[in-house]
Amino acid sequence: MNADSSAHRRIYFFDTTLRDGEQAPGCSMNLREKLTVAEHLESLGVDVIEAGFAIASPGDFEAVRAVARAVKGPAVASLARALPKDIEAAWEAIREARHPRIHTFLATSPLHMQHKLRMTPEQVYAQAVEMVQYARNLCPDVQFSLEDATRSEEPFVYRVVEGVIRAGATVVNIPDTVGYAIPELFGRFIRGIREHVPNIGQTILAVHCHNDLGLATANSLAAIVAGADQVECTVNGIGERAGNAALEEIVMALRTRSDYFRGIVCGIETTRLYAASRCVASVTGCRVQPNKAIVGENAFAHEAGIHQHGMLMHAATYEIMTPESIGLPRSRMVLGKHSGRHAFDTRLSELGFQFDEETRATLFAQFKELADRKKTVSDADIEALARGMQSRPRVERVKLDRFIVNSGNTITATSTVRLIRDGKVLEHVAIGDGPIDASFKAIEQMLGVPFTLESFSLGAVTGGEDAQGEATVKVRFGERLVNGRGLSTDVVEAGIRALLDAVNVYLSSQTP
Ligand code: KIV
Ligand code: ZN
Repeated sequence: MNADSSAHRRIYFFDTTLRDGEQAPGCSMNLREKLTVAEHLESLGVDVIEAGFAIASPGDFEAVRAVARAVKGPAVASLARALPKDIEAAWEAIREARHPRIHTFLATSPLHMQHKLRMTPEQVYAQAVEMVQYARNLCPDVQFSLEDATRSEEPFVYRVVEGVIRAGATVVNIPDTVGYAIPELFGRFIRGIREHVPNIGQTILAVHCHNDLGLATANSLAAIVAGADQVECTVNGIGERAGNAALEEIVMALRTRSDYFRGIVCGIETTRLYAASRCVASVTGCRVQPNKAIVGENAFAHEAGIHQHGMLMHAATYEIMTPESIGLPRSRMVLGKHSGRHAFDTRLSELGFQFDEETRATLFAQFKELADRKKTVSDADIEALARGMQSRPRVERVKLDRFIVNSGNTITATSTVRLIRDGKVLEHVAIGDGPIDASFKAIEQMLGVPFTLESFSLGAVTGGEDAQGEATVKVRFGERLVNGRGLSTDVVEAGIRALLDAVNVYLSSQTP
């Protein structure tokens, strides 16, 4: 059976990379990184950016407010529990947005009501209605979510949905909070809401799917077919536990199978998907699995001979969508040490980066330096350099001057690191468990800034012997957790640069 083919139906994309995505372990972002991601989301054409949970911490509040001020096209939402103080904080954070939206929620499943909220259904109903009214007195656009809706009793769901719409909810969201839904049943659930809630036509009906059973995209698509108007998702599917529905998967399914999803349209510019995916992976340090649909490294790679033969005869033999459609050009001129500034600038903008003249010049110098060390500089290399520029702190108080390591499997690793801190040269030597540990200890002792390394990962930006290593670290300075990344063809140097990146973010918030 085909999806409704009677007319064009616009699906709204509500992106929650900055809120639910950021809640994923190890995916936190600082304010600058959130603004960078928000820029990508805006250029992707999402309808709503959920910028955070304003009351969660002062840092979250500031980040939501900064995104609300910066974003011009999409609506900007902040999450709020169904409590006056949360709703007020959300409103304060988003009130300067062009299109502010308060997103408030309360659980409706027996499990959550009894064990988490310790409230009766009557109390939940009354609080939901009252808090939507409260939010509507502040903000014209209010979304209400029935947390754990898919494990809630249907008659109660219908009642709450009807009540919050009467109270003024402009959007009602049906979250599959724990990823429990099955596509066919979820479709029926959404259809049931359309059929049993008399005022459902006065609101936007949304769904929010988690991926615990690997069904978040399938459930979102089933909901669209059954009549959902809005889908909630994240770039690369990042999010709590197994993640949220992946924006790129929903969009490309709608587009690639438009024969089935007939008449369904959305505002997403698919050629920006790849750049957005790379940006989110880079700033969060949450790498994309190679076989991830749409944006994984292998998504458009054809290794088997029979596939390659077919592809050469006709690309459509083994390709249901083109790499170009997600902004990943099939083949381009290779850039190397003889490439000029114009070719470099053109490639940067094709890859979705916009920088001022001064930043482009700095990047070009870094590119030339890299081209001296590598045979060819790939798009992934250029993206990695450019992303470093996007998220780097404006003032680099500490810079790496040089380092020397002595290590092996029969000796204790020693590292001598020379840094320039606020214009002064510092040098220190330390031993450690391997060259990276020794270098980190030298830096910690020299700067006198104690930290705990919470995670360290190392990956290659491209294949090949001369590939650049990209190190990402999460470093805790007291209460503050900071991400850092560093690039180099030498892995120890990449690690040191990642640590210094985090140190600079931390120091930029301290008085010199
Ligand atoms: O998963 C969930 O239920 C949520 C809500 C707050 C919308 O993230
Ligand atoms: Zn969620």
